[in-house]
Parts: sequence; structure tokens; C-alpha cells
Amino acid sequence: MSESYQTRECDVLVVGAGGAGLRAAIAAAEAGCSTLVVSKSLLGKAHTVMAEGGIAAGLANLDTPDSWEVHFADTMLGGQLINNWRMVDLYSREVIDRVYELERWGGLFDRTDDGLIMQRAFGAHSWKRLCHVGDRTGLELIRTLQDKMVHTAGTDVLMECTLTRLLTHGDRVCGAFGYLRNTGELIVIRAGAVVMASGGWGRMFRYTSNSWEGTGDGAAMAFEAGAELQDMEFVQFHPTGMIWPPGARGILVTEAVRGEGGILRNSEGERFMERYDPVKKDLSSRDVVARSIYKEVVAGRGSPHGGAFLDIASRRSAADIRKRLPSMCDQFEALAGVDISKEPMEIGPTIHYTMGGIRVDAETAASTVPGLYAAGEAAAGLHGANRLGGNSLGDILVFGRRAGEAAASSAKGLGARPAVSKKQLADAGAAVLLPLAHDLGEKAENSYVIHRALQEAMQDDAGIGRSEESLNRALTAIGELTERSKRMRVGGGRVLNPGWHTCRDVLSMLTVSEAIVRCAIARRESRGSQWRFDFPDKDAHLGQINLVARKRGGAMKVEERANEPMPDDVVTRLARSRFFDPATLPLRYAGKVPAPSPEGH
Ligand code: FUM
Repeated sequence: MSESYQTRECDVLVVGAGGAGLRAAIAAAEAGCSTLVVSKSLLGKAHTVMAEGGIAAGLANLDTPDSWEVHFADTMLGGQLINNWRMVDLYSREVIDRVYELERWGGLFDRTDDGLIMQRAFGAHSWKRLCHVGDRTGLELIRTLQDKMVHTAGTDVLMECTLTRLLTHGDRVCGAFGYLRNTGELIVIRAGAVVMASGGWGRMFRYTSNSWEGTGDGAAMAFEAGAELQDMEFVQFHPTGMIWPPGARGILVTEAVRGEGGILRNSEGERFMERYDPVKKDLSSRDVVARSIYKEVVAGRGSPHGGAFLDIASRRSAADIRKRLPSMCDQFEALAGVDISKEPMEIGPTIHYTMGGIRVDAETAASTVPGLYAAGEAAAGLHGANRLGGNSLGDILVFGRRAGEAAASSAKGLGARPAVSKKQLADAGAAVLLPLAHDLGEKAENSYVIHRALQEAMQDDAGIGRSEESLNRALTAIGELTERSKRMRVGGGRVLNPGWHTCRDVLSMLTVSEAIVRCAIARRESRGSQWRFDFPDKDAHLGQINLVARKRGGAMKVEERANEPMPDDVVTRLARSRFFDPATLPLRYAGKVPAPSPEGH
């Protein structure tokens, strides 16, 4: 019997309702396109809310030497110079306008006494740069964009819908296939262009700040449709996640705690970041701080549950802490019974963000597949080997808008909406329904068991520190789990069946995990969040290379893409960062940057 499908049509399909998706939808609808936003979850529940500490933008409201040029330099240096410099250039210039736009749309910010937007310090930013509202900035950003989007003519939203496959006509993406989570009904969405704003992926690791949605469906679907996945080896451990009690492990402890003066201590009470980064100390970049905590634990100076202590209580008054960090106070009180205005927090690194993603063009956010665009955490390029805190909320505003505009222009340029072959739909439907239909007896596999085994493999062998040996172990495990995943079987029906949903998630996570591990094996160096025990230094050749994973002959292959060198006048901007060190420049830029000026430090 042939399956029936619900069908929808739109000019622009936006996959994901986090900040990038909402901003893309506003832009596409304002360009006159009918725009459908599809959310796997409920509107308002996106990983965007986990960017708590603020939006980085060189407004210079508190620290007057700041500017978009310094922001450019900090972001490039934080990413260890393998960022797409054109994206960083556009980003650092445009994020200022995007923040003021958010303010015009009703976004609330903390204020200086003069009524300016308040900005706070954050890791590896030269100046106080993060525009914020307490420690709830991501939430406020989502609230504001949602309000704007639902009042923008031409937008529509479909919630609790899992997309499983991009549909193509020739080599062009022309929609997506999926199912409604609450009814199990299959759905076909025909679209002129698709913006992938599906966020990142943390759920294949044991400890993560990501919620259940973060399984990499967007990257996996794009890969299957022929897109290149770039920089997948770079997965960010946020240095401060909760580690106790076990049920709270992984939940984010905002960097704003350190931005507001909090410091890290080991079990001996030592402020150990002074040893690892004497200049930036506790506000060093995330890769450095996460590694430092790891080293303290290995040296036997960790906290009781294998992390470190984060102390704000001895640095600020209780009233100040409650005012500036209300969510952290509530979170620790409710989940751990800890009053952070009196006691230190016990924390440890947690998977938080993925620098890698779909390879895109800087100006248009177009992927390498016609009709497919990507923005925000789903896309790669802006953050290089390590993202600075606060640069994700800016990223989603700047490139969400650009992706929405470009997708709209592409969709409007089409004549009739491309047709989708019946075979594609039949194949997509059969694949989704397979775990409900299999008759495998004892050979049947449980999706939760496979998910847990994948988490163990990725956390233990592709985690904060890696080696060829450990990565090969992870790759073997992924291969075995991929085979087992073909025999996933689930009981029950199609209505609200979490075991069935997990089957889809597992398939996405396996694809994305393979890309992470294959790229990590190929990058035989340590750079940013990629810490190779067997290659502790940077490699001159790889410093000019982005790695991409793509499908060739049915298998995943990793290829090199030379990154575009910065022109001389752009290179000189690097010296605007307070943290610029000429000794760290790759050879191709040697002699092009003046020595840092005294006022720059
Ligand atoms: O720590 C935080 O508030 C996270 C911010 C970010 O990821 O940008």
C-alpha cells in the first residue's frame, strides 16, 4: 500500500527555529517570499538560549578603544587564523547594526548609567564587548526575533516536525521530507530554496549543554544531498558546565560568571589559570581554559567530581551576584543546592558548540549545492578552530539575515517550483518507517543502546584530547554502530514514539560523528579545540587548509580546501588585538604586521 503524505509549499523553507532560522525567515519574508519555518521542537526552545552571556559587538560603549576592527582581529586570532576572513570581516562590521536592529525590535539590554547598552568582558575579547541582559541574553534574543517573525507577513511555522531528507531536482535542492512527531504523519515540503539553520550537534557526546534536539540532522541531510562539511574536527568544550549532581552534568555555567570577575581554582585553592595564560588568565579562550582544567584534573588537583571550582562569591557582593547572574543563582540553588553567592561552583568542560558545519560562501551563505543555504551553528567558516564566547549570537543575526535574503532571491529567480520524483518520496518514506516495520527477531537493535554506545566512543576517544590511536578506535566503533543501526527496530506506533524518533537521531549522529572523527584524524596537528596528544604543535601546511568531508562514490571522504589568504591591509588589522603575538603568525604573513602599539596592550 502506498503511503500518504501531507504536503506543504513555500518559496523559502527554513529548517530550524533558533536565532539563525528566525532571522533568516524575517529576511526572506521581507523580501516577499512565502516562508515556512520548521522546528523539530517547540518555538522558543532552541540552543540559542544557551548563549547566556551576551552578543559580541564592537560598540565601544564602555571601552572606547574597541571597534569592529579590533573585534575582527580578536575573532581571527581566537579561531587561530583558519577562519574564512571574509566572513569575519562582514560579521564584525555588520553585527553592530544587527544589535541596534534587535533593540529597535524590542530587545531588552542592561544599560549603563548613561542609558547605553551595557557591555561585559568575555574570554579573549580585547575589550568589554558583550551586550547582554543579565545571564539570559540568548533567551531575550529568541523572544525578540520570535515576536518580530510572527508579525512579519508571509511567515508560517510548523513545530514538532523532524525532517529526514532534502529533496532534489537534478542537482538543486527543492524541499524536504519528514514526519510530524505528534501524529507520525509523513510530510513533503516543496520549496524554491532551503536555509539550513538547524544548529549544531552535541548529543553524540556524553556530557553536553545541548538539549535533545542537537543531533546534527541538518548537517547529515546536507551531506547526503552532496554538500561539503567543513572543519568538523573542531568541537568546542565550554570550560564551565555543571558536573554535580549527575543529573545536571553538562548544563551550561555561563562564561559571564568569569566575565563578571569569577575565577577558577583547583583543589589546592590555587588560581591555576595564572600559570596557563598569565595575560588573559580566567578570561583566556575556551580551548585554553578547557584544556587547563583537564590538565589540573590529570595532575591530581581536580575537584571531587573531576573538574574545578568556579568562585564568584569571594569576588563580588551577594546583591551584585543576584543582579548580574540571576539564572546561575537559580540554577545552582535548584539543581545542586548551592548558593553561589556564598560557595564556589563545581564545574568541568562540556560540549557546547560546533565550529564546523556546512561549507558556505561568505556573502550569500550559499552551500556548494544549488538551492541550499546555511547559517549559524549549522554553517562553518566564521569561527575557525575556536569560537569566542558571544560570537554565536552575533553570527546568527548577521548570517541568518544574509542567508534569508540570498535564499529569497534564489527562490524568486526560479520559474515554476521544481518537481519531486515519486521514487524519492517512496525511498524517503520507506527509510523513515523501516524501524517500525522490520521483523528481525533477536537480531533487532535498540536505538537507545546504539546512542549510548556512540556517546561512550565519542566522549572517550574523540573528546577534549585525541590521538591517532583513540580516533581510529572511535572510527571503528562508529563503523560497527552504523552496521547495527541498519537493524534498529522499535515497538509501538507512529504517534509520539520517542524510540522511533531516536532511530532518526542516531542515523544523523552517526554520519556527523564519522565526519568529526575522519577530519580529526586528517588534521595531524593541535589547533584551537583540536588537541592531538600525538601532534602537540601547529603544522604550517594545515594552517592554510580547511578540511571538508563529502560524499564520493557512496562513502565519506576528507579533502583539503586551501583557505583564502588575507590581503596585506587586512593582515595589519590583527595588530589591533590586545592579544596579538607576531610569533604566532603563519609564515605567509611574516613581516606584514607591525609590532603591537603600546596603547594596544
Ligand atoms: O557562556 C555563555 O554564556 C555562552 C555564550 C556563548 O556560547 O556564546
